[in-house]
Amino acid sequence: MEQRLEHATDALNALIEKRGNNFYPQFHLAAPAGWLNDPNGLIYHDGLYHAFYQHHPYSEDWGPMHWGHATSKDMVHWEHQPIALAPGDEFDKSGCFSGSAVSHEGKLYLFYTGHIWLGEEGDDSQVYESQCIAISEDGIHFEKKGTILQPPKGYMHFRDPKVWYQDGKWWMVVGARDEKDQGQVLLFSSETLFEEGQEWSNEYKVLGKTDDKNVFMWECPDFFPISHDNDFAIVFSPQGKRVEGYQYRNLFQTGSLIGKWSPKQSFDLHGDFIELDNGHDYYAPQSFETADGRRVSMGWMDMWNSPMPSKQEFWAGSFTLPREITFDKVKNRLRMVPIKEVEVLRQNKQTIEPTTLNHQSIKLMDDTPALELNLTLSLDSKAEKFGVWLGKGLEIFVDNQSNRLVINRHYPQYDISGSRSAPLPEGYKIELRIFIDSSSVEIFVNQGDLVFSTRYYADKDDRSLHLFAMGGDAQILAGEYWTLKSIY
Ligand code: FRU
Repeated sequence: MEQRLEHATDALNALIEKRGNNFYPQFHLAAPAGWLNDPNGLIYHDGLYHAFYQHHPYSEDWGPMHWGHATSKDMVHWEHQPIALAPGDEFDKSGCFSGSAVSHEGKLYLFYTGHIWLGEEGDDSQVYESQCIAISEDGIHFEKKGTILQPPKGYMHFRDPKVWYQDGKWWMVVGARDEKDQGQVLLFSSETLFEEGQEWSNEYKVLGKTDDKNVFMWECPDFFPISHDNDFAIVFSPQGKRVEGYQYRNLFQTGSLIGKWSPKQSFDLHGDFIELDNGHDYYAPQSFETADGRRVSMGWMDMWNSPMPSKQEFWAGSFTLPREITFDKVKNRLRMVPIKEVEVLRQNKQTIEPTTLNHQSIKLMDDTPALELNLTLSLDSKAEKFGVWLGKGLEIFVDNQSNRLVINRHYPQYDISGSRSAPLPEGYKIELRIFIDSSSVEIFVNQGDLVFSTRYYADKDDRSLHLFAMGGDAQILAGEYWTLKSIY
């Protein structure tokens, strides 16, 4: 593996030399160059936060998957580390696919899927996937130990292990596709985390399965407690859901199911699948526990098969901001807000005085830098449409006719356009917390009631920021903004 890692590092360094910065994030984790998709192995270990990610260091396109690696003291500022895993061993011949990390007795354990194309490269109808392990003493260099869990009979697509410890045992959930091409999550357990030469038993329970006949696979399952009362959430990324009106418009989705679980009982669902994020670009998030016991999650802020104009700059793929996840018992759903640590990036605070916009727009700035913009808007406003414009291509607005909050992007030069929206929350006002980076926008509504993550690709001279109202009056009740320091 050493040689393969060296080779990959040389390739990555050559790409870093060429990397462009127009779309490169100022305050989100991205690969130093090349391709990135899912967050992997997010963990607090030995005084540091570790983030790994699906990585192709040889180009800006997806390819044989490596694990990239970064570390952080505060989950905001990240330092790139050497590539952690390179594929090519017998058990991970075609790729080191997604997985998770465990910190145990001073060592860092990575659980990942060894992916093998049995037919042509890219032919999804003939693959072999098993769960593998790699171990590190220093948190930087990993020794692969091979396969620890083989697919149970009848399962070919079997990937993305998430491992945790509870009630005296080790547990693992794995995303799967059964013989009838239906998405599932399988649950495994083991008395020991790892013993040389020994595998986990592949006896399993089906923890959850789709009730939608179109859904053929559940990717990247994450299963975690959300109360002290056996409430658990499964967050996963189903593939195959069909568009339903305003819903499920992205190629694939990510959402949660909530229920009661303990090692002695099966997962007792209460509630339906709810999308975690309403934007254009959100997939395969993973959560972990912080040093002080918060549940924090980061996702991949892109979507499979979407055009990614940053490829012109020899990189693709960004994480979302780290988001704290909490359980809203009343609404029986998860909420997500940026972790409080993100506030250290704020500088140059400006206040927007309460004002009424009447069929007009006001310009806040000509050239929007990395920015956090907080706005409180009255929902009693009469305007048909009011909110924020970022250049000509991006608008975020309250649509008073459909009663929805909308994000609309229009970059025909890149073949990217379309709206995403969600019903307006109840109440007479709406609070928007908007994070604008070089090519991404994240909107947190009413402290995490709704979240939107969307990539946008504005030309350099098309980054002005306006507040606007059309077809009547709109009241801005309060507003403030900060430019954000770069984390790099
Ligand atoms: C999700 C996913 C995972 C897989 C990885 C491959 O985006 O398809 O299921 O492990 O990406 O890069």
